[in-house]
Amino acid sequence: MKGTVLYEVRDDVAILTVDNPPVNPLSDGVRNGLYESIVKAEEDSDVKGIVLTGNGRAFIAGADISEFGGNVEGKSLNEVFRKLEFCDKPVVAAINGIALGGGLETALCCNYRIADINAFVGLPEVNLGLLPGGGGTQRLPRLTGPSEALKMMLTGSHVPAKKALNMGIVDQISENILEDSIEFVKNIASETDAHPKVRDKNDKMLEAKSNDNVMVEAQAMAAKGRKGQFAPGQIIKCVEAAINLDDFDEGLKKEGEYFLECLMHPQREAMIHIFFGERAASKISDVPKDTKIMDIKKAGIIGSGTMGGGIAMCFANAGIPVHIIDQDEENLKRGISVIEKNYDFMVNKGKLTSEQKDSVFGLVTSSLNYSDISDCDIVIEAVYENLELKHEIFKALDQHVKPEAILASNTSGLDIDSIASITSRPEKIVGTHFFSPANIMRLLEVVRGEQTSNETLATIMAIGKKLKKAAVVSLNAPGFIGNRMLFGYTAQANMLLLEGALPHQIDQALESFGLNMGPFRMMDLVGLDLGWRARKLSGKESPLHAKIGDELCEQNRYGQKSGAGYYNYSEGSRAPNPAPENEATYEKISSENGFTRRDITDEEIVDRCILALINEGADILSEGVAQRAADIDVVYINGYGFPIWRGGPMHHANALGLEVVIEKLEKYKEITGSDVYKPSEMLLKLAKDGLKLGEAPSKEERKEKLGFEMSSVANNF
Ligand SMILES: NC(=O)c1ccc[n+]([C@@H]2O[C@H](COP(=O)([O-])OP(=O)(O)OC[C@H]3O[C@@H](n4cnc5c(N)ncnc54)[C@H](O)[C@@H]3O)[C@@H](O)[C@H]2O)c1
Repeated sequence: MKGTVLYEVRDDVAILTVDNPPVNPLSDGVRNGLYESIVKAEEDSDVKGIVLTGNGRAFIAGADISEFGGNVEGKSLNEVFRKLEFCDKPVVAAINGIALGGGLETALCCNYRIADINAFVGLPEVNLGLLPGGGGTQRLPRLTGPSEALKMMLTGSHVPAKKALNMGIVDQISENILEDSIEFVKNIASETDAHPKVRDKNDKMLEAKSNDNVMVEAQAMAAKGRKGQFAPGQIIKCVEAAINLDDFDEGLKKEGEYFLECLMHPQREAMIHIFFGERAASKISDVPKDTKIMDIKKAGIIGSGTMGGGIAMCFANAGIPVHIIDQDEENLKRGISVIEKNYDFMVNKGKLTSEQKDSVFGLVTSSLNYSDISDCDIVIEAVYENLELKHEIFKALDQHVKPEAILASNTSGLDIDSIASITSRPEKIVGTHFFSPANIMRLLEVVRGEQTSNETLATIMAIGKKLKKAAVVSLNAPGFIGNRMLFGYTAQANMLLLEGALPHQIDQALESFGLNMGPFRMMDLVGLDLGWRARKLSGKESPLHAKIGDELCEQNRYGQKSGAGYYNYSEGSRAPNPAPENEATYEKISSENGFTRRDITDEEIVDRCILALINEGADILSEGVAQRAADIDVVYINGYGFPIWRGGPMHHANALGLEVVIEKLEKYKEITGSDVYKPSEMLLKLAKDGLKLGEAPSKEERKEKLGFEMSSVANNF
């Protein structure tokens, strides 16, 4: 059994300490230990009260997710919670650190809660496609009122101790948690035999009975922040039950039923896949665990544009001083003022106090002079996407920045090895591909060059964690992981337009599938002119899928930036309006290229775009560009708006069944005649062996079987 509960009597108080490193989840050993310790304390007539706390930095971090789906050994959580709630001696939860999910639910079964000043609490089950099924949906609303409880449960947010006190979740906060809790329980035990239970607090439920707004607001919140997800609706139903059922145990029963429905729902599996996927992604199979990690005390950024500013904010937010260099004084001034505006916006929204803003913005310095970054431990370059320019910059960085520092590039697709070859420290060169806006988007693609050292990689993965990013390693191959997949996906969206579908139909079909933003809205946002200009410069004929976009650019329709692209935009607005005037262009380009426009179903739209992602993802995996199938899912969910509840394109393929995926690919290959739908060898092989993506042989075996070599990846992005 995993974990235990330490038992000690001090001063007539039983101290129960959950001990299950590193964060004390409620594994079988902990549940049994809690049950037995409560019995022991009850039976000891000298014990006047009980203090329940956690060993180390956590109180109880939650349920043991690794037990999901398996047979549960020993006492169930419900048995333990009942024992705790009906204990005949007063129990104080001494919340010494994080109390999340089952951890907070444990505390809610105690008579009193005292939290360490630095602790925080939360019910984040929604992030795993679940609801707080240990009574959380019934007890939390009784303390905070249903509106606040719903906000907490639907966002899954962590609430710091002081706020938890204001919300009524804890009774006191303390800087001396164990001693204060012992003192408190001794006193209260001597004063009274009647100790409050959360289940009996009904006043806030009665108040809410006559207020329909609470549920309407919660529904709106779920629809906005958790589009397409199953668990939020279940959480709302649980709180409705808490309000409307007079018997607390009836409410608990309902919660149990709704919880089970979440547990059996495919979204739960998809979301837990991503939870574990993000943790696995930070491990690099051939980099030893004990690899030295450099201490990053100061960061430098080259280029104060869109990306440079956002990346600088990431470092400052993590408490790391950051110095920005630009060659252009005006650009630098503008870049710094954008950063300040972003922080001011957070202050206005109540996300930062002005003191916090001053302190975090105070970590950002800037100048035009490379000598000011000589002492940085890492410098990230974020200038224009031009290899010659990047070569120049890395030469200068190599000269000016201390030799042990890491030099990274934010390039979206240039060759990291070529950049490394310009320097005298190729082992310190790495790609750090942040996504826009860098201070908000979670994805960080870490591009591993031929000579990037283990120490450099391990350090970057550690920084990724510090900056709260989902960091995923990609080999240095064209388009890395995400943009290579995106390329095939948008090309198919464009082909569908050429064949007869309209942008808003394609966008709506894919948004209904769950994507945050359809491909044409996205292309309008990024700007159609970037690709058009590059194609013009190359002097080559544009590929079929780019023909319509190019024609729109010829008409000065560049996307949002020019107020018109695939859609029209009113001045100052980002909302897309239909552009019927484009339809003549679509007709013309289709017919010029031999297409008779036809009606295309939403099913074909979704199939063709998503299959393009899946097939390319399988190739990326077989080539070893991504380490694991789940890494590809983490990339697509955190960087490209793929719905988390579908678990990413690779998980989605597994859920459909690889046989079905191959059948569909073959069907669309027949319809379109395009090699995009020629099933990846990886898919064929896995399906033949009855395996799923993610159950592939090791990378070395894959290379041997498929004969992959880095140099064989054509530079076709
Ligand atoms: N914008 C995005 O969405 C995005 C996303 C991911 C990656 N990227 C990549 O990030 C990099 C930067 O893109 P951006 O959109 O932030 O560019 P940007 O045009 O917004 O900013 C570039 C900045 O670099 C400065 N600069 C140019 N040459 C310089 C030099 N020699 N020394 C110092 N500063 C110099 C410019 O003055 C400008 O302020 C590019 O490689 C791009 O491909 C961009």
